[in-house]
Amino acid sequence: MAQNIIELRDLKKTYCIGETEVNALRGVSYAIEEGDFLAIMGPSGSGKSTLMNILGCLDRPSSGEYILDGEEVSRLDKNRLAGIRNQKIGFVFQSYNLLSRTTALENVELPLLYSSVNGKDMTERALAALASVGLTDRSHHKTNQLSGGEQQRVAIARALLNDPTLILADEPTGNLDSRTSSDIMNIFKTLNEDKKITMVMVTHEPDIAAWARKRIYLLDGLIVREERD
Ligand SMILES: Nc1ncnc2c1ncn2[C@@H]1O[C@H](COP(=O)(O)OP(=O)(O)OP(=O)(O)O)[C@@H](O)[C@H]1O
Ligand SMILES: [Mg+2]
Repeated sequence: MAQNIIELRDLKKTYCIGETEVNALRGVSYAIEEGDFLAIMGPSGSGKSTLMNILGCLDRPSSGEYILDGEEVSRLDKNRLAGIRNQKIGFVFQSYNLLSRTTALENVELPLLYSSVNGKDMTERALAALASVGLTDRSHHKTNQLSGGEQQRVAIARALLNDPTLILADEPTGNLDSRTSSDIMNIFKTLNEDKKITMVMVTHEPDIAAWARKRIYLLDGLIVREERD
């Protein structure tokens, strides 16, 4: 049986803005197995991004437990969380989050810039990652000269540089047409099946969610339904 890479136990997140409290997550319990391909769905404001931020160690829950790869991480300080993030997690965002006027290659090298990896190895790894998303011939193009789909592939290549066990993608196809979205999903599928990377993505679109093997639906900060293929 597959191991759980992620276990969430009664996870809650409350945002306080002045006197107002927003209960963005109200008790989420769920296990994600190593090698899963999970889609998180639900209406706007249901807590999807809040959950992704916690899964990505970008934020901490207000209460509950988050066990990532066997380690309880929900109470770790910011530095420890950053360390875990760098070691285990790759991120892909709707808006690509690339530096413009900087080449695809330089963008992909970015995660290793402050590591001990030397320049030559860094470039080799970045080129290999670009090749794995089919962008070898765009390596030296500036990102603002690339199409949306190409930019998202650069972002995926960048997410691969630290050999993540887990990729988190928040609306990765939100700015792309359906044909380009399928290209991106094909890349995710390959990473999941061939490299055994666990994939968790947020999407509004049922035809994108259909690429995942499991789907959970959030409503008002709770998981209200799960589907498995
Ligand atoms: N940093 C924050 N400070 C205060 N409230 C927040 C913050 N982030 C999110 N919220 C609130 O928490 C709730 C859940 O927001 P979240 O961004 O997780 O929703 P979502 O499901 O990702 O929505 P969308 O589909 O629109 O991206 C919302 O009511 C939102 O207003
Ligand atoms: Mg969101």
